[in-house]
Amino acid sequence: MSVSLIVCRDPDELATVAAEGVVGALGDARRREETFSLALSGGSTPLATYRKLAEASVDWSRVRLLFGDERFVPRDDPESNYRSAREHLIDPAEVPASSVFPVPTDLPTADASARAYEATLQGLLGSSPRLDLALLGLGEDGHTASLFPGSTTLESRRWVVAASPGTLPPHVERVTLTLRALDAARHVLFLVQGAEKADVLRQVLEPEEGRPTLPAAQVLPSDGDVVWLVDRDAAQLLHRTPRLEAGPQGWFNPGGAP
Ligand code: 6PG
Repeated sequence: MSVSLIVCRDPDELATVAAEGVVGALGDARRREETFSLALSGGSTPLATYRKLAEASVDWSRVRLLFGDERFVPRDDPESNYRSAREHLIDPAEVPASSVFPVPTDLPTADASARAYEATLQGLLGSSPRLDLALLGLGEDGHTASLFPGSTTLESRRWVVAASPGTLPPHVERVTLTLRALDAARHVLFLVQGAEKADVLRQVLEPEEGRPTLPAAQVLPSDGDVVWLVDRDAAQLLHRTPRLEAGPQGWFNPGGAP
């Protein structure tokens, strides 16, 4: 397992490097004639990356587009992560419906939705589903996906669970992949930008003794790698973490190729 940090000049470079890396990963899977399972993150940070992905040359028929988490709201609700992905990626890129696997938020409860999505995930990827790439964000409280600090979801051995609203908006029930699911991924890419994330990013990457380990810091794939792709504003409080400045090396090295 490796964890690396790449610092981009600004949000636009972050979105460019992220999109280029995802396209690189997708191309690598295509050359191996494999279908690529990509879990999208919610929130606002990844939207610029999704727009750049929508402009890229991708064979979306070879991609399974999943969701790392979802708000338990109707798909056309402004708070829906699916709606955001549809507006910024799925529709502009004309991703075929057969490649998109939204969380079924039209079921009676968030738990029923989580159980149904877990079955979808296992139906697509096997009983121990292994994502090729999970895109994740970082909340100012240290959450990622909808895994909130102090939540019992952090100990769950299921793959997908319902989660109570966190302290940050939107205050709605969630459905989220668990640490078990995220730790099974081949690649995890965190996208973090803005000065408002500087303190929590330092707490995650440079934790102080005795402080609780934040959910985002617990994403540690046993047989995969984690890349933190951040902008300079978010990285401004980091002192000890070795960094790579964003550049032609990109972030995705299939098979660890130099
Ligand atoms: C969600 C996301 C959540 C998000 C972080 C960061 O459903 O809200 O999955 O984990 O990634 O809250 O959000 P921003 O990118 O908007 O800061």
